[in-house]
Amino acid sequence: MAVRNIREIGDEILNKRSKEVTKINDRTNELIDDMIETMYEANGVGLAAPQVGVLKRIVVIDTSTDEEEDGLIVLINPQITETEGEQTGSEGCLSVPGKTGMVTRPEKVRATYLDRDMKEQTLEAEGLLARAVCHECDHLEGKLYVDLVEGELMDVPNPHQEEETGDEI
Ligand code: NI
Repeated sequence: MAVRNIREIGDEILNKRSKEVTKINDRTNELIDDMIETMYEANGVGLAAPQVGVLKRIVVIDTSTDEEEDGLIVLINPQITETEGEQTGSEGCLSVPGKTGMVTRPEKVRATYLDRDMKEQTLEAEGLLARAVCHECDHLEGKLYVDLVEGELMDVPNPHQEEETGDEI
């Protein structure tokens, strides 16, 4: 496994649509393992493949706060099929370092996806996990949260207080 370079806003790959995954081979598995390592290294709660420069519909998310808890989810070709309610809160992105902004997302989402064995799965998510699923699915469409921000995109005042100002996803 290796930590990959995270692409930042201004890099045009972040504005491109990612392609469906049709099979998992060694390279795909290596990509997924690297994405997981890169997300944890950067203290992010989610990462999409285009953020490491690969236009494939793959997302990794871990919104768990307890280190004992395994909250890692790998979503291949995710599709949000249902949404419910609304939540407005601060959001950040590893591709937009040092920034945060208020974004309204659904409170609950249901998504279908393929797991690493290419088996169809369904995820029911709410709260931060629902927000992360929406944010990462947007990445696969070439969209960044900065276009959804209500009001100003703000500087994170102190990098050591990031947890209070929004998770980077
Ligand atoms: Ni992001």
